[in-house]
Amino acid sequence: MPRIICVAGARPNFMKVKPVMDALEARGAEVVLVHTGQHYDAAMNDVFFRDLGLRPPDRHLGTGSGTHAEQTARVMTAFEPVVGELAPAAVVVVGDVTSTLACALVAAKAGVPVGHVEAGLRSRDWSMPEEVNRVVTDRLSDLLFAPSPDAVGNLRAEGYHDDQIHLAGNVMIDTLYANLERALASDALHRHGLTDGGYALATLHRPANVDDTGMLSGLLRALGEVARRLTVVLPVHPRTAVRLEQVGLPGGIRLVPPAGYLDFIALQASARLVLTDSGGVQEETTALGVPCLTLRDSTERPITLTDGTNVLVGRDPDRIVATAARVLADPPLKRSPALWDGHAGARIADALLAHLAAPVRPRPTDARGVLTVALQ
Ligand code: UD1
Ligand code: UDP
Repeated sequence: MPRIICVAGARPNFMKVKPVMDALEARGAEVVLVHTGQHYDAAMNDVFFRDLGLRPPDRHLGTGSGTHAEQTARVMTAFEPVVGELAPAAVVVVGDVTSTLACALVAAKAGVPVGHVEAGLRSRDWSMPEEVNRVVTDRLSDLLFAPSPDAVGNLRAEGYHDDQIHLAGNVMIDTLYANLERALASDALHRHGLTDGGYALATLHRPANVDDTGMLSGLLRALGEVARRLTVVLPVHPRTAVRLEQVGLPGGIRLVPPAGYLDFIALQASARLVLTDSGGVQEETTALGVPCLTLRDSTERPITLTDGTNVLVGRDPDRIVATAARVLADPPLKRSPALWDGHAGARIADALLAHLAAPVRPRPTDARGVLTVALQ
């Protein structure tokens, strides 16, 4: 059976890679888990291995933090010899972080087929580092595993061929469903002194929201207004922790360390409202049926708006406060997108192994030609 490298590096990768690894191993593939080391704090890393039952990485590249170029270069330099030594039949990358792009680039240049899990998502905001990572990773990939029909539409519009595109569903929701019962049975609410439906949960970590102190102050002011009627719990991402030291914090916002996976799912499931700029949290709130306000001007996950509980509210504090009041008074109904059913990992493993048994060659020149036309 083929040897397949699965790559993970940062918090949102761990819950995406686990169901794919499990499904590949259940079908007899030899899976090598490579951790790039992009995230390394116990609260951003170790807790996910414990909570998800993810085995320790087979290879750890230990690359750590840095600028985009430093991080990309370090991951590439460390990953290249691993690919050379292990000669995998395929490399699977997930999501849209720097580690995703760096490893896809190494594998593509080594002539190893790349599978991208979460392909085709587009915010159309080129100032987001993740958007650059998404577009380039898709371009480097042989197999494009799309979580939703909108992602398939984006890929087709960019000139990708149907034999490369697989509508697989959402692996993050596989992991959510696999762990929901354990999360709900945990004492997370009790430990945080919260009651079911008695609080709002917030996360903020996008550079556009937190790196600018004026923007961060405005968003905190909005959270402070929401906190006048409902305690706001804010698990603080390390990027945001540094910035919070430079701005005033309104009353009613309770800062807590980044939460472990099971705790964070429990906190989402019992929240009356979630306010976030996270990608994954938009999806999990939709699957859980919890109202979500996305504090951004765009989303690469529009299906959570049309088929879920997400509202794209922007970053104007007054608008956030007014929309929170409206959603609290009239919460959206629970709906869930098709194929967010707990079986995305299995569909990805089946498609990848079938491809390796009888590869369909990608047609890069065709795709690039059509892409050029589509962008004009
Ligand atoms: C990264 C991803 C982002 C994702 C987020 C998930 C990129 C470009 N961005 O953003 O898409 O939503 O992870 O959480 O890949 N730090 C620590 N400890 C850690 C990790 C980071 O202190 O364990 C601090 C460091 O100061 C670091 C900063 O956080 O410089 C940013 O980390 P980085 O991985 O570059 O980007 P994130 O903002 O975490
Ligand atoms: N998450 C977590 N603890 C937190 C915040 C988020 O376990 O304090 C989980 C969340 O449930 C989801 C994933 O982390 O599974 C989302 O990652 P993040 O928001 O860091 O990145 P993004 O999805 O925006 O890339």
